Amino acid sequence: MYGIVGDPVEHSLSPVMQNSAFEKLGMDCVYIPFRVASSVLGVAVKGLRSQGVLGFNVTVPHKTKIIQYLDKLESHARNVGAVNTVKTVENKLVGYNTDSIGVVEALKTNGILPSDNTFTILGAGGAAKAITHALIESAPRISVLNRTLERAHGLRRDIRRRSGREIKIGSLTRRNLERELHTTDVLINATSVGMKGNPGNIPIEGDLPQDLVVFDIVYDRCDTELVKQAKRSGCRIIRGTEMLLYQAAAAFTLWTGTKAPVDTMRHSLATFGFNR
Ligand code: ATR
Repeated sequence: MYGIVGDPVEHSLSPVMQNSAFEKLGMDCVYIPFRVASSVLGVAVKGLRSQGVLGFNVTVPHKTKIIQYLDKLESHARNVGAVNTVKTVENKLVGYNTDSIGVVEALKTNGILPSDNTFTILGAGGAAKAITHALIESAPRISVLNRTLERAHGLRRDIRRRSGREIKIGSLTRRNLERELHTTDVLINATSVGMKGNPGNIPIEGDLPQDLVVFDIVYDRCDTELVKQAKRSGCRIIRGTEMLLYQAAAAFTLWTGTKAPVDTMRHSLATFGFNR
């Protein structure tokens, strides 16, 4: 059966990266974006299963809902409670979360070892959760600030239950953030502030500490306000495209059993103006 695919997932950079990797390694594979409404997610998964695909990615808003349609979860995905990558293993669909690998690899590639640094994470949604779980075993201290304090409480309870470790939490206010930044090595923005359609601002004014590393997981062709502010303050910056790249590379390796050609994938992002 052949089909014509229309209305793909808007602005998705994943096909660009994955197809460049397949081409580079001469693999006879293709990565195709599909827009799937929440109401038909189960049917879509059934269709992919019947086609015997190597695997697939799942993005917002399906990362949690997908779990009920899978046969098995890898332990880290179970801890995070979200799946972004699915692999077919002996006709079973297994769920993984490579966002966590993505954030750790992005840090390490930029010379930041989680075990040597303290972190302030902004946000308590799905992305913040994956990042906190990724860092909790190694980072000496993690603070989470969120606009809605109750959600940060929820993340703290979840981390305590799953890992037995503690994080500090607070409301995302200018005062709290300034206080945290005095004792933080790496600031990670895991809110959706800076994404298209979100008019919000991170509540920081003036200069940031110069020795702070600022990692904004939001990516765009233009600098986000936070990245602009970090640049003005002379901070080191890690861009959201780094996390995007390394979560994609981890998914590629899971599906194919082959080391991902990260440089090729990085280059493919650059051709779309996303790698500076
Ligand atoms: P994702 O799965 O991408 O993390 P999410 O679960 O909807 O998406 O989480 C979005 C995060 O961005 C939340 O931490 C949200 O804060 P609330 O829990 O208070 O909603 C945060 N966020 C979104 N818009 C924001 C804004 N304008 N200011 C501050 N935080 C914001």
